[in-house]
Order: sequence, then C-alpha cells, then structure tokens
Amino acid sequence: MMLSTKNKPVGGEQELGNDGHFYGLTNSGRSSLRWTVRSMCLQGKKVLLPDFVCQVVIDVLLEFDINIIFYEVKDNLVFNLPKYLQDVSAIYLVKYFGHESVSFKDAIDSSETPLIIDDVFGIEPPKVIANVHWCYFNSLRKITPISGFSQLISNKPLAQLRKNQLLEFSDFKYQAKDKKYHFLQSSIGTEDDYLSLLSSAEDLLNSCLGINEPDDKSTFLACQLYRNQLHEYGIRKQNFFTAKEQLLEGQYIDINPDFPTFLPLLLVNRDKVKRELMRYSIFLAVHWPKTTGPHSVLSESILSLPLDSRYTPIEIKRICTLIKRLDV
Ligand SMILES: Cc1ncc(COP(=O)(O)O)c(C=O)c1O
Repeated sequence: MMLSTKNKPVGGEQELGNDGHFYGLTNSGRSSLRWTVRSMCLQGKKVLLPDFVCQVVIDVLLEFDINIIFYEVKDNLVFNLPKYLQDVSAIYLVKYFGHESVSFKDAIDSSETPLIIDDVFGIEPPKVIANVHWCYFNSLRKITPISGFSQLISNKPLAQLRKNQLLEFSDFKYQAKDKKYHFLQSSIGTEDDYLSLLSSAEDLLNSCLGINEPDDKSTFLACQLYRNQLHEYGIRKQNFFTAKEQLLEGQYIDINPDFPTFLPLLLVNRDKVKRELMRYSIFLAVHWPKTTGPHSVLSESILSLPLDSRYTPIEIKRICTLIKRLDV
C-alpha cells in the first residue's frame, strides 16, 4: 500500500528514524574510554590530552600505548589547541563540571580532528556539529548515587566486543551506600564500615583492565534518574545560584552547566580550607590532584562543592560562609 497524503496512518508499530548514532553502556568512564579507544582504533596513535584531567584517563590511554601530547587548560577552563594537528589522531575534550567553555564549543563545532568527549560530570551529550568521528561518554557514578553506569555514544559504529561482568564492584558499592545511609540517618555502625567497603570496591575496579557492563540495579536507577531529572535539576540549580551568590567573585570558576553537579572553587589556601572543613564533617573532593602529566594551574587551587539534592540551599549557604571565613 502507498502512503495516502490525505489520511495519516494511525496505529501499529511505533516508527523511529535512525539518528545516525551508535550506543553502548558500561559500568564506568574508564570502561567506556577503553571501548572508545578500540572503536576509534587509537592504539599506538597520538592523542591530545588536557593537562587538567584525572590520572585514570592517563593510565587508560597508556594501556593502549597511546602517545599523549598534553595541552594547557587555563584557570577559567579555556584552552588553546596547537595549530598543527596533522599527525594527531584524536583530541580529548573534557566538559569540565558540565560547562561548555568557548574553546570546548569551538572544538565540537568545527574540529577537523576526531574527538573524544569526556563528560563525567554530565548526563546528556552536547550537540556535535563538527564533521568528524567522535565518541562521547559520561559516568553517572561520579555525580549521582548510582554505583556504576556510563553511556557511550558515537557517530560511527562501536567496536564489537564482549563485555565483562564485575558484579562484586556494584555489590560492594551498594552495601557501602546502605551502611552510610544508616550511619547518617540513625547513627548505626561506624564510618569505617562503609569507607572500607568503598575502598575495596574501587580497588576492584582499578585492578580490572576490561570493559564491564553495568549491573541491573544501576541500570534501573539510571532510568529513574532520567525520569526524575527535572526535580533533581531544580534543586541543583537553586544550590548552584545560592553558592554563587554567597561566595566572592574569584573564589569559584564561573561555569554555566546544563545540569549542575559541583561548583569548582578556586581557593588561595585550598589545602588549609579542605582540612579545616573536615572539622565540621564537610569533606570536599579535589577534581583533580596532581597527575604524572605536566603541572596544571588548576590542580593546586581547585575544590569541588557538591550541589546535588542531598543538600538544601540553607546548607550550601552555611558551607559557603565557612569557606569565606577559612580562605584567608
Ligand atoms: C575526567 C575523567 N574521565 C574519566 C574518568 C573515569 O571514570 P570512572 O571512574 O567512572 O571510570 C574519571 C574519573 O576517575 C574522570 O575524572
């Protein structure tokens, strides 16, 4: 039967146009990065990597004998790529704290070199306009309670491979998260109970060089996150604006994230502030400390303020007041 122009057909199987993308799921950013390297055939090739990145990324690229050339990221997250890129097989971009800096935007709009887009702070891929091979991945374990779930998206087919299971990893993580929950809600157990489990889980992940599939609970929780995204977004946005209002200009990087996760603080006395905050049971992470790569201006002064829905604007305000008092 030909399509009638008069009557739109109704019913039957729901249609879906091919969006030209290819999709993969793993348990972690590193698994997705390994899959990316294999899909883009980057083994032994030259890759441009920012000097502000976590050690895990460097280690994964070295597993594949990649020749890493570092480029500098300034303290406002802007960077300049070298002009001559002919022998570079891919540029590694990080969407820092969910922010599309001018340089990030330039690269995804007009790069002529293939792109690896690392969005460990994000939940949705950016619109890539550049007409090059690209792979995007996130890692929800970094920004939500989900223990291990990462989406990998590319504009070319992903390498065909068999994923491994690493179920003990997520088992340990969920056991630890439950212990922490009961410790915080009802003073049951000790901090050590969950900290030692968390550390065993991370040791397990670090010792495994494969590509792991996500566990079922994490997959379920990821669906739930996307379902409740607007509610979570609303709280994070309020926390984000509260923190920016409270802190002094120059005490944070002025980012504009689509889904706030952390506000990157830039503190003169970062280590002292981090230490003193612990006396108030406030444990802020450093994304990212010094690596085996070149020195980064950001590694020494950055501290991440979490903005997720565990915290209210009142709590964020209190933390920011303390930070202002301590960073002198
Ligand atoms: C920028 C960046 N990319 C990738 C990763 C790897 O993510 P995961 O720890 O989920 O493997 C991390 C975290 O360690 C990271 O900070």
